[in-house]
Amino acid sequence: MDRRPETMERITTPALAQAFIDEQIAALRAQIGSEKVLLALSGGVDSSVVAALLIKAVGRQLTCVHVNHGLLRKGESEQVIEVFRNQMDANLIYVDAVDRFLDALAGVADPERKRKIIGKLFIDVFAEEAAKLDGIRFLGQGTIYPDILESGPVKSHHNVGGLPPELDFELVEPVKYLFKDEVRVVGKQLGLPDSMVYRQPFPGPGLGVRCVGAITRDRLEAVRESDAILREEFKNNGLEGKVWQYFTIVPDFKSTGITDGLRTYDWPVVIRAVNTVDAVTAEVAELDFGMMAHIVDRITHEVKGVNRVLWDLTPKPTGTIEWE
Ligand code: XMP
Repeated sequence: MDRRPETMERITTPALAQAFIDEQIAALRAQIGSEKVLLALSGGVDSSVVAALLIKAVGRQLTCVHVNHGLLRKGESEQVIEVFRNQMDANLIYVDAVDRFLDALAGVADPERKRKIIGKLFIDVFAEEAAKLDGIRFLGQGTIYPDILESGPVKSHHNVGGLPPELDFELVEPVKYLFKDEVRVVGKQLGLPDSMVYRQPFPGPGLGVRCVGAITRDRLEAVRESDAILREEFKNNGLEGKVWQYFTIVPDFKSTGITDGLRTYDWPVVIRAVNTVDAVTAEVAELDFGMMAHIVDRITHEVKGVNRVLWDLTPKPTGTIEWE
């Protein structure tokens, strides 16, 4: 196994992060020379830090590809474009693959099939973009040390297996010996926005696993809008970065309700907010009841097609963190 050098100090301060950045820039320049590098940039903290390091090291020899699969949180694609294309002058290709993903997922209710379709189509779309580019020699990857260490049950279904031949480039993995907290310190030092650096974990299949069963566009929109309200309220209440993971789910059933004296038949939104150290077990976050009531009020009034909110009080085990 590829092991972190025992002499490597833990990166806990801006000065240590800067030393790491300087070292990596030199190493990346030595490895890449005048060749071209390709990177799939999701906007998550790991790929964003790799992108920022590569931009500093080799500038426009790097091509970033951001695939919008329609399962991202509200504002995420816009933020990737703003930060990397507008502020860092990166060579960024934005691929709108929303219809392709949602068409491929139409009518598919089985959670494992949904994950497989999303994972495979992502690789296909990325490989198609790679095929349009000439002279790529390297592939940047946001591998971090836990990815190397963990081959247990939590990660096994998360990361798509090997790369297809059309993406068989030499790998560039500048953060592969870092733990998540170190990646964040480096990201902060690189000047990435806090909302990117301190982002909560987000599954590869994105909101797709929170739109339970067969995904429909209207229910997916209810997941995205309710998630945005939840994040905004957690931020306003100083809970960002304090609660480990919090999100909404929209199951594929309806219940009766009443709005302005009229009966409705709409979806519920489920809220899940958990704390954990390693995601193997998790406990439910204890929150202020007034804040919870305010979130329920906002979601039921602002999200289309929703008339009820349920709060998931199940620890892991027995519930997994995600619902699919
Ligand atoms: P579960 O639902 O298994 O989730 O308790 C544990 C943690 O893993 C995240 N998760 C994923 N992360 N790809 C990922 O990169 C995935 O397919 C995936 N599924 C779950 C989940 O959000 C939680 O933090």
